[in-house]
Amino acid sequence: MAVGVFRMKSDTNFRLLVLPGDGVGPEIVTETLRIVTWFGDYLGVDFQVEAAAVGGASIDEYGKPITDAVMQKALQANAILFGSVGGPKWDDLPRVDRPEMGILQLRKTLDLFANLRPAVNFPEIASASSLRPELVEGIDIMIVRESTSGVYFGEPRGISIDKNGLRQAIDTQAYNETEIARVCHAAFKIARRRTGRLCSVDKANVMETGQLWRAVAIEIGREYADVTLSHMYADNCAMQLLREPKQFDVIVTDNLFGDILSDEAAALSGSLGLLPSATLNISAEGAPDRALYEPIHGSAPDIAGQGIANPLASILSFGMCLEHSLDAREAAELLNRAIRLVLAQGIRTADIARPSEKIVGTEVMTDAVLAGLDDITASSKKAISK
Ligand code: NAD
Ligand code: IPM
Ligand code: MN
Repeated sequence: MAVGVFRMKSDTNFRLLVLPGDGVGPEIVTETLRIVTWFGDYLGVDFQVEAAAVGGASIDEYGKPITDAVMQKALQANAILFGSVGGPKWDDLPRVDRPEMGILQLRKTLDLFANLRPAVNFPEIASASSLRPELVEGIDIMIVRESTSGVYFGEPRGISIDKNGLRQAIDTQAYNETEIARVCHAAFKIARRRTGRLCSVDKANVMETGQLWRAVAIEIGREYADVTLSHMYADNCAMQLLREPKQFDVIVTDNLFGDILSDEAAALSGSLGLLPSATLNISAEGAPDRALYEPIHGSAPDIAGQGIANPLASILSFGMCLEHSLDAREAAELLNRAIRLVLAQGIRTADIARPSEKIVGTEVMTDAVLAGLDDITASSKKAISK
């Protein structure tokens, strides 16, 4: 393993709260922690890892999807590594008692308003996408999803009996201008570091929140003359992502549209098992004040417990932690290189394999990433000592 000249920072403590959750969550997080250990040595960072229950696991043990004690730990952590929550066992619970409230309460309480969901197609597996390789090869889209407001949290809400004795359900989509402005600022800053193109996605043709969203995006845009702002209706965006995905660089959108469009974007990259995310509270340039890193996929009950889930979305989520919380961009890039090396070697979990390809499980895929990290750093060490 790399030491000496490869240490990029002096010894630093970093409190990492690990919340594995349910289904494949614990399987992928266990493997990701091996990558965390590798980078701890490489960077000279002392990752102080503490694990706790969330979601269904927390319901089973403590009667609720997240306890106050775990929320306190979350507030004190430098970053959170989250697995996934939910599953059929808890599907009949009322909304407020479900495992999914664990992640929603974390986003809300920690005010993690900017959910960054990159969709990249690794050329080594362009054929894993359901779209033609020439359409998806080289896509590099960043979806910035608002994640603390909108229909996920709006009031009033609930199921009741209306005046005609019929059951009725209400959800409320509500945004104030501050909530829209801050996620737009985050998206403009990201766009200016990339190709300088930002597409704001809304339903301004039918929704009041869409009209306000578009108006605020235009106002904020005046502060970013170097970024070209465009607008698209969410239904058209869903179609354009499949028709010509390379037209997009950065997309900024509300909580619900962002949830749906990012799962769609996962299909472009080949599999849900590949898409990481970072959910950040970023008030200024530099490291976020609080941050949670998680794959965008769920607990995958259909494959849980079999050791076959793709760990790369979770491993890449830790890569986003390296980039954003530790400001270790080169380390994140190294992790990307190792993953591309593994994919170039033809190593595939079931979700990204073609019929004739050999399939490996969660642990062997991680073994391969670790071997890739060792190989790349060993060869650069050799190059330096020449
Ligand atoms: P899902 O993302 O769990 O699974 C959708 C499909 O993708 C399944 O076929 C699954 O096998 C596959 N898949 C997902 N992750 C994979 C991986 N790492 N490797 C290989 N294949 C993978 O979505 P769902 O089935 O709609 O939801 C299942 C549960 O997860 C629900 O309870 C839902 O609420 C919850 N969920 C949680 C989160 C989260 O914790 N952040 C996100 C999405 C869904
Ligand atoms: C996601 C998930 C969550 C969401 C659920 C589990 C609450 O689908 O992170 O994409 O809808 O935000
Ligand atoms: Mn989702």
